[in-house]
Amino acid sequence: MGFLKQFCVISPLNKNVLLQCQSFSCGDADLDDFFCNDTDNYEQQLLGKSYCFRLDKQPEIIVGAFTLANSSIESRHLPNSRKKKLTENIPHEKHLFSYPAVLIGRLGVNKAFTKKGIGSELLDYIKALAVFPENWFGCRYLTVDAYNSEHTIKYYASNDFQPLFSTEKQEKEHIGCPDEKELKSRLMFFDLIRLFRN
Ligand SMILES: CC(C)(COP(=O)(O)OP(=O)(O)OC[C@H]1O[C@@H](n2cnc3c(N)ncnc32)[C@H](O)[C@@H]1OP(=O)(O)O)[C@@H](O)C(=O)NCCC(=O)NCCS
Repeated sequence: MGFLKQFCVISPLNKNVLLQCQSFSCGDADLDDFFCNDTDNYEQQLLGKSYCFRLDKQPEIIVGAFTLANSSIESRHLPNSRKKKLTENIPHEKHLFSYPAVLIGRLGVNKAFTKKGIGSELLDYIKALAVFPENWFGCRYLTVDAYNSEHTIKYYASNDFQPLFSTEKQEKEHIGCPDEKELKSRLMFFDLIRLFRN
């Protein structure tokens, strides 16, 4: 059994919860700032809902946090090769211009708890949540704009997320990022149909 399941409880991440908790840090200043100061604003505007796992016996300690929002993957403007990759498991007659998705807007693991498999367990939880109960809202993909660092891309890839664009050049062209500019994030997706296969 995983650490989160065994030793943690999940709750919304909002001001009330934050007041009861020690300051959360996953080691990334932007994400820490968001989780500590901005989750209520997002929630009030219905732009994203944040959750955290806290230690059961020490609820003042946040182990991991994430923010989810409804989203979609627009396929009509994708190059054919990318469209093919995205829809390889969808019968041709069911192909759409836009596919329903849930966006992992933010995600972080308390830096005192990393490298124990907790990040992977968080993604497993989100995957299950996206299709629970019985995929009520019709959601095909999880998407994330993953930080373009070796560590983060490897983390998502080892949890079966695939980059939508196989090269940075392709992705830059698609989003209109000049060649000389650094690509800060990579769009990655997880096909939820994988959860329905034996
Ligand atoms: C990226 C992040 C979420 C990963 O969380 P994590 O809990 O360390 O993730 P995991 O433990 O599942 O996997 C990370 C590594 O630990 C290893 N690991 C997993 N269980 C382990 C264990 N029991 N013992 C030793 N190593 C272990 C994994 O194999 C993986 O190794 P790798 O990096 O060599 O592939 C975390 O580092 C983080 O919050 N980073 C800052 C914020 C960030 O980048 N968020 C993503 C924004 S898009």
